[in-house]
Amino acid sequence: MRLIRTASAAEFEQCAADIVCARVLARPGVRLALPTGRTPLGLYMNLRLRCATELAALRAAHYVNLDEYLGLAPTDTRSYAHFLHRQVFDPLGVKPSQLRLLRGDAADAQIECAQVESELQATGGIGLAILGLGANGHIAFNEPGTPWNTPAHVATLSPETLALNEHLGGGLPLPDRGLTLGIATLRGARAVLLLAAGESKIEALSRLLQGPAEAQWPATSLIGHANLTVLCAPELSALLPAGSATAGPTAASVR
Ligand code: GLP
Repeated sequence: MRLIRTASAAEFEQCAADIVCARVLARPGVRLALPTGRTPLGLYMNLRLRCATELAALRAAHYVNLDEYLGLAPTDTRSYAHFLHRQVFDPLGVKPSQLRLLRGDAADAQIECAQVESELQATGGIGLAILGLGANGHIAFNEPGTPWNTPAHVATLSPETLALNEHLGGGLPLPDRGLTLGIATLRGARAVLLLAAGESKIEALSRLLQGPAEAQWPATSLIGHANLTVLCAPELSALLPAGSATAGPTAASVR
């Protein structure tokens, strides 16, 4: 595990975007799994401002969403697909051919999850999974207690997660179930970049950094991953005990 503590929001965004760009440049056509929420907004803004070479590599990459609300079509402004189109795909000019998004409005959500899982596995899996972190330790929509051998599946969201995400609904109610890549899917990614931001995440972050791995804290399933980078926003970096930094911001070391 590589821990990067950043000292400012600008450094957090820049470092995350450097890591993503290094990956798409080094592995043309790599598949990225993308998060939603507040945490990646700076990353996505930074990506939109990259140079032509990096933008071309980002357009050549493939993408999957980490999760989606059950029942919401991609055109629904509350959907994660809509969020990612607005933040990433449309401004970057990523073509539909590069996307395989979990569809919240699929006729059968279980079948949709199974199809996405098998398509991912058949096409080389995930090259870089970019994850946010829930205050309760969730990753994607994998809530506490989710077995670690689960592939993509339909999940019931905790009241805590529903409250956390309320702001994305724009005043409209949000479904209490979602489709999500599973913990097994995420652990199988060749590289993982976990973005940790917000003081409320300190317990989840500390448990990931210190262990032990336990099912009640889904992020701890990443302990021992061969290529895991944990990038901490300044407010969390400040709360970590002195000396817990293992590396300064560097993208080159994320292979
Ligand atoms: C939602 C998403 C997660 C994300 C989390 C954190 O629950 N499904 O993938 O990590 O929100 O959100 P935020 O970045 O707003 O704290």
